[in-house]
Amino acid sequence: MSATVHAFPDSMGPAMELATRLGVELCAVARHLFPDGESLVQVQPRLGTALLFRSLDHPNEKLVELLLAASALRDNGAERVILVAPYLAYMRQDIAFEPGQAVSQKVIGALLARHFDALLTVDPHLHRIESLAEVMPGIEAISISAAPVLGRFVADGDEAVLAGPDAESRQWVEAIAATSGLDVIVGEKRRLGDRDVELAFDDIDKVAERSVTLVDDVISSGRTLEVAARCLMEGGAASVQALITHCLASQEDLDRLAAAGISPISSTDSIAGPTATIPLAGLLAEAIAGQGWLS
Ligand code: R5P
Repeated sequence: MSATVHAFPDSMGPAMELATRLGVELCAVARHLFPDGESLVQVQPRLGTALLFRSLDHPNEKLVELLLAASALRDNGAERVILVAPYLAYMRQDIAFEPGQAVSQKVIGALLARHFDALLTVDPHLHRIESLAEVMPGIEAISISAAPVLGRFVADGDEAVLAGPDAESRQWVEAIAATSGLDVIVGEKRRLGDRDVELAFDDIDKVAERSVTLVDDVISSGRTLEVAARCLMEGGAASVQALITHCLASQEDLDRLAAAGISPISSTDSIAGPTATIPLAGLLAEAIAGQGWLS
């Protein structure tokens, strides 16, 4: 079966890199926005396997167009439609914390499972469940980690320290430490609100006069990294840089992180922006080939 990559204008750069690595054709998905806010989506009809590439930051804007494109690909001959979403949205809310709250992970997971034959993403933000397959029943839902590519950007030198701001980040910090052999510290975080977190490192004495690399999966408001960086600077760190899988932060939030002493902040290209300097195409291509989705 032949394969093609299909991408929206907002994802053309990384999609092109992926198509080149896979040695397949890249087809542009055209979109027109009507004055009333509806979208018209037009795909290039291809047979075989269609890999539809779109990161789902700003998901409320992007999801409808994504479903329209998936349907158009199928209607025009694609035998299999696979979503490649380096950033997958709506994975955090996995239970109702208060009566009446929607469980968005379940709703969006089921929606995507209805429209795609398979899905590939990177470090989805899962809390209480182990695997993406539980969220998307009946399809191949594959999640890979960006840790191998992030690990290449850790500050050089035996004196460097890897820091995870909270318990969830331990998995990425330890994955990178396994290959670099660097010291690790992990913070304890308490979230009090969207932009309000408390955080402390037990073993802060380890960072004095050393270069620290903060590693996390997501920057959203930036508060976690900002508070973590202030703790590290107060602990005497010589420098603090950050390696992030998905950077959703606004320029204003990035400016606050710079003011807190983090430089540079590097993230993967899962989401376009000034920090997105680490390409994921190699990892994605490897996973796609490994799943046998090209044959
Ligand atoms: C938490 O579980 C995540 O790993 C991130 O630490 C968190 O989402 C970052 O959010 P914010 O930038 O809003 O503090």
